[in-house]
Amino acid sequence: MKKYLVIGNPIEHSLSPKLHNFWIKKNNISAIYDREKLTNNDLEDLILKIRKNQISGANVTVPFKKEVISYLDKLSPESENTKSVNTIYVEEEKIIGHNTDIYGFEFAIRNLNFDISNKKALILGAGGVVPSIIVALKNLNVSNIIVSNRTKEKAEHLKILFKNLTLVDWGEIPDFDIVVNATSVGLNEEDYIDLDFSKVKGKFFYDLIYNPKETRFLKTAQNFENRIENGKKMFIYQAAAAFKIWHGINPEINEEVIRLLD
Ligand code: ATR
Repeated sequence: MKKYLVIGNPIEHSLSPKLHNFWIKKNNISAIYDREKLTNNDLEDLILKIRKNQISGANVTVPFKKEVISYLDKLSPESENTKSVNTIYVEEEKIIGHNTDIYGFEFAIRNLNFDISNKKALILGAGGVVPSIIVALKNLNVSNIIVSNRTKEKAEHLKILFKNLTLVDWGEIPDFDIVVNATSVGLNEEDYIDLDFSKVKGKFFYDLIYNPKETRFLKTAQNFENRIENGKKMFIYQAAAAFKIWHGINPEINEEVIRLLD
C-alpha cells in the first residue's frame, strides 16, 4: 500500500488527510494518507524515506515550504518562481518539489463570479504562502499588487522575487478592489487584525483561513457590505492538483467534498 503524508508543525489541524483519504477511497486506490509533525532535523530523513520508496509523496505546510527545498533533486517552475514547495513527488527517480498553492488560489478566484483582471489587489502578510498568491494574482492579470506586513522588512524581502510590488506600512489602507488576508491572524476565533477597514464598502475580502469558516476579518467586512470568501476552495483545489499528480486522477469536487471539511 502506498503511503502519503502531510508534514508541518503544528499539523494536528490539517484537513489534508481527511480530504485525500476520502478521494483515495472513492477512487479505489490502495493507499493511505497520514500526517506527521516534524522539526527541521527530520526533513532529511523524510526525503530519504521517499527515496527508498517507503513514502510515495508528501504535502508540505507551514513552516517547511521553503526549508524543504535544499533536500530535493529538482523544482517545478512554480516552485522555482516562489521558492515554495507544498507537494513532493517522484519522477524518473528524482524527488521533485512542486507548488499547487498557486493553482489553488488562481482556480478558486476564477470560479467565483468576480472578474479580477485589471483590479488592484492588497495582500496582508508576507509569510510562506504569499509568493504563491502573488504569482496567482499575476496570472489573473491584476493591475497592481500591494503588500502590507506588520514587519516591513519581510515585505521588502519579497521585492527580491517580485520587482513590481507596492509596499505600504502596516496600518495604512490603500485603495484596493480585493484584499487577501494571508496572515495567520484569525486561526483562533477571537483573533482580530488591528487594521481599520470601516471605511471600505463594496469590495472583495478574501481570507486564506477556512477554519474557522468566518474570521472576524470576514465578519466585519460583511457588516460593511463587502463581498467575502474563505480559503476552503483554494485548499480543495491545491489538494486536487496534488492528487492528480500522485494518482493520475482528477478527483471529483462536489457538495459532499465541500461539506466534508465543515
Ligand atoms: P512565516 O512568517 O514563518 O512564513 P506564516 O504563518 O507563513 O509564517 O506567516 C505569518 C504571517 O502572519 C506573517 O506575515 C506575520 O507577520 P510578521 O512578519 O510581522 O510576523 C503575520 N502575523 C502573525 N501574527 C500577526 C499579528 N498579530 N498581526 C499582524 N500580522 C501577523
